[in-house]
Amino acid sequence: MEIKSYLKSKRQIVEKALQKYMLPASEPFKEHIEAMHYSLFAGGKRIRPILCLAAAASVNNDPEIESTLLPVACALECIHTYSLIHDDLPSMDNDDLRRGKATSHTLFGEAGALLAGDSLLTWAFDLLSQTGNTSLPPEKRVAIINVIARAAGPMGMVGGQTMDIANENREFPIEILQTIHRNKTGALITGSIQAGAIGAGASTNKIEKLVIYGNKIGLSFQIVDDLLNATATTQQLGKAAGSDTTRGKATYPAFFGIEETRRQALQAVEDAKSALTDFDYKADPLRALADYIYTRSN
Ligand code: IPE
Ligand code: IPE
Ligand code: MG
Ligand code: MG
Repeated sequence: MEIKSYLKSKRQIVEKALQKYMLPASEPFKEHIEAMHYSLFAGGKRIRPILCLAAAASVNNDPEIESTLLPVACALECIHTYSLIHDDLPSMDNDDLRRGKATSHTLFGEAGALLAGDSLLTWAFDLLSQTGNTSLPPEKRVAIINVIARAAGPMGMVGGQTMDIANENREFPIEILQTIHRNKTGALITGSIQAGAIGAGASTNKIEKLVIYGNKIGLSFQIVDDLLNATATTQQLGKAAGSDTTRGKATYPAFFGIEETRRQALQAVEDAKSALTDFDYKADPLRALADYIYTRSN
């Protein structure tokens, strides 16, 4: 399967849906909503929405399933974008560049960026709970909302971010490093896959396997983010290279060195694909996405 063209076509679908489901920038909160748009439409790989759609397609070949899940996919991207805005704040990672553009707080001020993030997070749950934007039945919708809220919150992404900040410039054991990566990045990635699987009516057994796949690619995704921070250029990444060392972050390269880090990222991807042995050709995009996560260059 050709991952490049697959990603391109899915990204186009996600971009179009984001345009459709995002609030228009109208009065009286025009500037605030423009700040939300600024970060949301700054580019980005759209990996979480694509994983959600690919997980759904891996268990269900109804052609309608994708459009049914697009509001969910968009909500995931809103939550992810909020997390990036807050991650870049001076009190967090203090970064000036994101997705190749000036970070939100450098343009809209700290309060403006904080609030744009707040509204992207809240709008995500508005989208998830709006009746009329999807044919998903209420029970599935509630289950998806719960999975996403759990992934994004204190027992997931925010918990991981808290631990990431608390462990700057400290000696850290491997267990802490894994907990940070599994939560700050892995949780929302797994949640995206789980949400897609629930929406598509996957069996409990299939959902369990998809969760294993998600946990493994989620870990690999952040290990590769660490590797790229250490080895790629700012221009290539569209965000500051080398910043993890400057900020004394708990990363895989800091713990294991580059070579062993590469090996572990690859191992996690192989484990992810192994979790899909019982899946047929419909899971080929998920298999290709796992490889892409390891080979990506930004
Ligand atoms: C960056 O995520 C932050 C992490 C959780 C590692 P992405 O690499 O998915 O960023 P975008 O959305 O493509 O900008
Ligand atoms: C970002 O982790 C995780 C979240 C935004 C939840 P990093 O701080 O390592 O990611 P980058 O390198 O800034 O994208
Ligand atoms: Mg961070
Ligand atoms: Mg950061």
